[in-house]
Amino acid sequence: MTDSKERLTQWLRDAHAMEEQAETMLSGQIERLENYPELRDRMTLHLEETRQQAKRLEQCLDRMGEGSSTLKDAGGKLIAMGQSISGLFAGDEVMKGSLASYTFEHMEIASYKMLIAAAGEVGDSETQSACKANLREEEAMAEWLESKLGTVTSEFLRREERDSDAAKR
Ligand SMILES: [Fe+2]
Repeated sequence: MTDSKERLTQWLRDAHAMEEQAETMLSGQIERLENYPELRDRMTLHLEETRQQAKRLEQCLDRMGEGSSTLKDAGGKLIAMGQSISGLFAGDEVMKGSLASYTFEHMEIASYKMLIAAAGEVGDSETQSACKANLREEEAMAEWLESKLGTVTSEFLRREERDSDAAKR
């Protein structure tokens, strides 16, 4: 039998693994965004937020007596997904990266909504506040990415045209 508290703990661990994966993905993308400074700067900010989010989750787990020291081991499940979306880069990495980031933010949003409800169910208001803080940052990042999808696509296509024209000369 799994009770709600155990389930909450498990989902917090999953969320922590998800944030570690987010950190890996963001770090990898930031390195390749030298031509897209606005995107790079926002991702750099979100990388810092992501590290803080992981710390908030660790504090929740520590408070529940679940020790966060073994968390590194729980990260396996999501790694495959992160690799599959970051490993397909072929010239249009900025677009593949935008797609992956936007998708990932929404998985994070869904996870924190689940966690907020689960923490409410067991009366853990501190965990609920931590997850609400994380949720707000994920929503802000998803909205920002959404607002930039059109311009980044245009910028990418124009750059590609320019480069291929230059190569023909
Ligand atoms: Fe995020």
